[in-house]
Amino acid sequence: MLGRLTFTLLTWLVLFHQLVHSSSNPDTNTQEEIEFPDPIPGADFSKEISKGLHVVDFFSPYCPHCKHLEPVWQKTWKKFDTEYGNLNLTFSRVDCIASGDLCNAESIEYYPTIRLYGPEGAIKNYPETGKRTVESFIEFARKEALNPDNFAEANLRSTSVRLSDNEIIKLLAGTGDAPYLVSFWPTKAMDNTDDYGEFVDCAHCTPFQRVWRLLSTQLMEGNIKSGHVNCVDSPVLCNELGFEKLVPIDNDSREREPRVALILPNKQSNNLFVFPDDDFEIYTKVYEDFALRLTHNNNAPDISKADILKIMQQDIDFGDSNKENINDQKIHLVFSYDSRTVVPEDLDVLEHLIEPLQALPNVYLYKINESIVDVTRTGYNNMYSIIKNNDKDAEPLTLNENSLVLNSITQMPTFFIFRDGDTTSQVFPGYSTTETRNPELIMSWVKLFAKPLFSEMTPSNFRNFMELDRDVFSTIILLIANTSDPNFIKSSSGYLRNINVAGYEYEHERLEEMYENVIAERREKKEYIQHLRNKSAKPDKIVDATLLDVDHVNNLRLSLAYYDIDKYDETMSWIRTPILKGPLKAGEILIIDRTDGRVFQFDSSGNVINSDSPSSLRDIFLSVSLPGRTSVITPEFMSMIVTIKRTTKMTSLSPTRMLYLIVVVLCFLIVTRSKKLYRKYRTRKLYRNKRDTIGLLGKEVLQD
Ligand SMILES: *[C@@H]1O[C@H](CO)[C@@H](O)[C@H](O)[C@H]1NC(C)=O
Ligand SMILES: *[C@@H]1O[C@H](CO)[C@@H](O)[C@H](O)[C@H]1NC(C)=O
Ligand SMILES: *[C@@H]1O[C@H](CO)[C@@H](O)[C@H](O)[C@H]1NC(C)=O
Ligand SMILES: *[C@@H]1O[C@H](CO)[C@@H](O)[C@H](O)[C@H]1NC(C)=O
Ligand SMILES: *[C@@H]1O[C@H](CO)[C@@H](O)[C@H](O)[C@H]1NC(C)=O
Repeated sequence: MLGRLTFTLLTWLVLFHQLVHSSSNPDTNTQEEIEFPDPIPGADFSKEISKGLHVVDFFSPYCPHCKHLEPVWQKTWKKFDTEYGNLNLTFSRVDCIASGDLCNAESIEYYPTIRLYGPEGAIKNYPETGKRTVESFIEFARKEALNPDNFAEANLRSTSVRLSDNEIIKLLAGTGDAPYLVSFWPTKAMDNTDDYGEFVDCAHCTPFQRVWRLLSTQLMEGNIKSGHVNCVDSPVLCNELGFEKLVPIDNDSREREPRVALILPNKQSNNLFVFPDDDFEIYTKVYEDFALRLTHNNNAPDISKADILKIMQQDIDFGDSNKENINDQKIHLVFSYDSRTVVPEDLDVLEHLIEPLQALPNVYLYKINESIVDVTRTGYNNMYSIIKNNDKDAEPLTLNENSLVLNSITQMPTFFIFRDGDTTSQVFPGYSTTETRNPELIMSWVKLFAKPLFSEMTPSNFRNFMELDRDVFSTIILLIANTSDPNFIKSSSGYLRNINVAGYEYEHERLEEMYENVIAERREKKEYIQHLRNKSAKPDKIVDATLLDVDHVNNLRLSLAYYDIDKYDETMSWIRTPILKGPLKAGEILIIDRTDGRVFQFDSSGNVINSDSPSSLRDIFLSVSLPGRTSVITPEFMSMIVTIKRTTKMTSLSPTRMLYLIVVVLCFLIVTRSKKLYRKYRTRKLYRNKRDTIGLLGKEVLQD
């Protein structure tokens, strides 16, 4: 009775305290009264661990680093519990002085050791390079709480088979019956990767055994087999493959990690692909993608026109529907050829693209044995229907065929790039076999355009975002996302569509501007170019003569992106200069002009730019990047976001080479207008090939 009374009294006191507290400080959370739990006693550890995921801080009360960590850990625990309580992950502590036996059993070698545990035991350590801040711990915990690896079954056994030197040699000779994903370990006599292995100087080896176990079963679905090599037993082989660090078992105290490679069947060369050393992760997904995409790109399967149209019409959102998740956006590189005229040399180039394509995420290679110019045309027509259906305020716009031909003339065979959710496409501006058989040239073009329709911007890729390909994509349209906000998730497909529609309207204006410039340019320069041509001037002279204006408009493309304020700071304080007036909210838009670093947060009437309407977005896009094509005033701009130095070093030859190609095409167009010149032109070596050259829209520009 007395106990009950005390309890009631206590409850009231707690509630009262909470009330006073919360009214005096609105930020204080209602979970205040739950106290930071004590360290888990050794005896309770396995019971506690069995309840879900835990990030455990193994500490000693006497270590100074541990003392520094303590308040951070407490804050992390509280923030995670409050904001991500539904994720079934807990931040816990173990006092290794009080629970010495447990820490011995868990091989805790230094303090503090921070380690992720699943119900069955240790999964992996918190990365040594990881910062010990609330934000970094939470980012790690969120990623792991959503990582399906961590919920995989306990009694699963690895299907990986131990491979001898001879078996590897046979696989490399192309006699395998399936693609093999092979792991290489700094150990000997490990028959099954689930067995205890003797790993010296390889802290990641044991956690990676778990990854390999999961991977080996997951890959069976994709008909990929898995195997492993004990490098201490196969020193010659491992040295030969460049894994010499894995060979000596004696501790030279250099940390090492298992290595992974894929061996493709039915080929004697170019069939071994090594997973990059630097990308090592204790995470199955990266290896699964590596193996599946390599196998796919090696096969370069046929794609149909209907499939391409489906890709273009894909709806994208942030989850919670039958639309495509923004994280799954793919890029499709399609080799289009005519089966009557194609020669083996044309197809050889595909072989050389497999490896470099691996460096570009989510790019899939396909082929089609016909011209797909009509698909591209349909795509552009769809662009105009999409504008009409989604922007009631848009003026009636139509396809300018000449402008499209201008932008997309090519020859067979050639490459196209299609992106999920993007009805516009890119055509490789290669124009003779010199170009369509040149892997470097193709790759520099692919690198430029093989980005998802909406890319994710993060604090760590921000620099790249600002710098890369600025020569072609002048402006970033950044949607602010909050992936914890159910309202945002629900509206996200509409937001993305509005941005996309406004982007199409902008693209229409850009193409028009480019066309008009070229026509004007052509009129002006025609005589001069003819003069140069008469003198048999080198192509680069002609390029110089025409480059400037075309260059200019060609650069003004939009790059669409998003930034998740649930994952990263909503004030973007990680950019040293404060740039924003107030924190960002989901659905808002920032526009970043990369040419001069201006950032736009407000429209001309002083309202925060948002993604509610395509027509107002269109006006803003135009007023920022193509002010000549709109009457709307440039919105108010915020201070410089970052000072961008023009780097003299080109990251790749792509933009220049691209422009060169485009200009060559333009010159060709000009030339084909005049029969007389055309004949002269034809005799030039560069264009002397027997193929049909077809304008993108099916216009026969050249016919023998
Ligand atoms: C958390 O655990 C509960 C109970 O085991 C389960 O119902 C729920 O789905 C889990 N939540 C997540 C996000 O895994
Ligand atoms: C490995 O390292 C330990 C401790 O540093 C040392 O005692 C041992 O001799 C080393 N073993 C070899 C084979 O070098
Ligand atoms: C093109 O490929 C398809 C499917 O692979 C095949 O059915 C068709 O016969 C091929 N057409 C030509 C002209 O080779
Ligand atoms: C994201 O959305 C959640 C749920 O609505 C909200 O609690 C949180 O404050 C939002 N995050 C930011 C940074 O606005
Ligand atoms: C140069 O081209 C112009 C225009 O086609 C032509 O009239 C003229 O004869 C040419 N001059 C020479 C030297 O070939």
